[in-house]
Amino acid sequence: MALWRILSRGYGYGRSVRAGVPVDGTGQPIPWFTYPALEYLNQLDFRGKTVFEFGAGNSTLYWSNRAARVVSIEHDQAWYERIRSKLKPNCDLHLVKDPVRYPAFITDRAEIFDVIIVDGLKRRECCAAALQRLRPGGLIILDNADWHSGGAAVLRCGGLLEVDMTGFGPIAWFTTTTSFFFHRDFDFPRLHERQPMHGTGALGHLVD
Ligand SMILES: C[S@@+](CC[C@H](N)C(=O)[O-])C[C@H]1O[C@@H](n2cnc3c(N)ncnc32)[C@H](O)[C@@H]1O
Repeated sequence: MALWRILSRGYGYGRSVRAGVPVDGTGQPIPWFTYPALEYLNQLDFRGKTVFEFGAGNSTLYWSNRAARVVSIEHDQAWYERIRSKLKPNCDLHLVKDPVRYPAFITDRAEIFDVIIVDGLKRRECCAAALQRLRPGGLIILDNADWHSGGAAVLRCGGLLEVDMTGFGPIAWFTTTTSFFFHRDFDFPRLHERQPMHGTGALGHLVD
């Protein structure tokens, strides 16, 4: 069935399930976000951008391939060791086991970031901390925002503009929501002149 082929081969869903980690149709690492969110990210140019990530994974490898620099924290020792062995030099991965220190890791440093991803422990607290370290014009991504409406409310109340990307994603059999929270001056460069680009499995029509 065409629909299943697009999901399984095009998006790499079947490969992700077999590997137990999120990968795209060519086997490259991707974040564990919904496919609509990933399609949107594919259109942006992050080469000059810095990224902070609460919760490491194949996402850390993805961001280190796409952005100038990535700082990521992870609470699980075994997972930390596994990801650390694959990282490129533009990535700093830190093991932070203490759930109290975890959200404060970002505010304990002076650095600000263009993109901050909340996808690990203590999401509401991490959202509050992320607001303090977002560069003006930047973007915060809250994954599983449908499970973490308190965190989403913190970011909305912080003045960011919310766009919810609900749908299927790698590995999981259920739908969920990856939410983007844009600073009002958001203006990241695009990778292509045309936007939106055709998504995976699109018909490729060009009408105007
Ligand atoms: C939902 S995961 C997201 C991690 C990362 N941001 C990503 O997009 O891949 C949140 C936490 O689950 C654990 N984790 C990540 N990937 C995993 C996997 N494939 N299997 C089991 N645990 C995983 C890690 O401790 C991680 O911090």
